[in-house]
Amino acid sequence: MSRPDAREEAPPIEVRESPLHGLGVFATARIARGRRIVEYRGERISHAEADRRYDHKEPGDNHTFLFTVDAHTVIDAGVDGNEARFVNHSCEPNCESVIEAGRVFIDAIRTIEPGEELTYDYQIQREADDPPDIDQVFACRCGRERCRGTMLWPPRPPPPRPPPPRSRERRARGR
Ligand SMILES: C[S@@+](CC[C@H](N)C(=O)[O-])C[C@H]1O[C@@H](n2cnc3c(N)ncnc32)[C@H](O)[C@@H]1O
Ligand SMILES: [Zn+2]
Repeated sequence: MSRPDAREEAPPIEVRESPLHGLGVFATARIARGRRIVEYRGERISHAEADRRYDHKEPGDNHTFLFTVDAHTVIDAGVDGNEARFVNHSCEPNCESVIEAGRVFIDAIRTIEPGEELTYDYQIQREADDPPDIDQVFACRCGRERCRGTMLWPPRPPPPRPPPPRSRERRARGR
């Protein structure tokens, strides 16, 4: 499943250590905006099977090679995965993940210069039963100016604003 299609042109990328996290994927030549760079390959499994494989992880361990395709299917790039599984997240990415007919591709959304690290926005979906420290667990270290601090999506809504001073005064007098 992870073998490249012989008709596909090898993408100009290499896997090496990343300043963002662990290993990352870097351009070895200029990549044009819009180019389909690499398919995210791996074993196609159900959500139940993904839970069975990985739900026992330590609570603070956010490392995952899973990519959710739809309500039925998850790609586990820990099995039969290719280089695409090492593309890190950024809040200001140069790539995007595109799902087409159940397959996942990493496409360039701007020109990428040689030596640049490839990134896409993981947009890991929040879930109703997320623990309170979920944002710390999935903290983003992309270091970009507009880093939202988390790989989760949507970003946490802003906390409720305190009431304006006049209403606080009125409450105090009413006590
Ligand atoms: C698909 S792997 C990417 C490859 C990873 N760097 C490695 O060496 O295995 C996804 C994991 O990398 C880490 N990661 C990727 N981008 C990150 C970022 N911007 N900030 C913090 N951790 C990140 C998280 O642990 C995430 O679950
Ligand atoms: Zn970020």
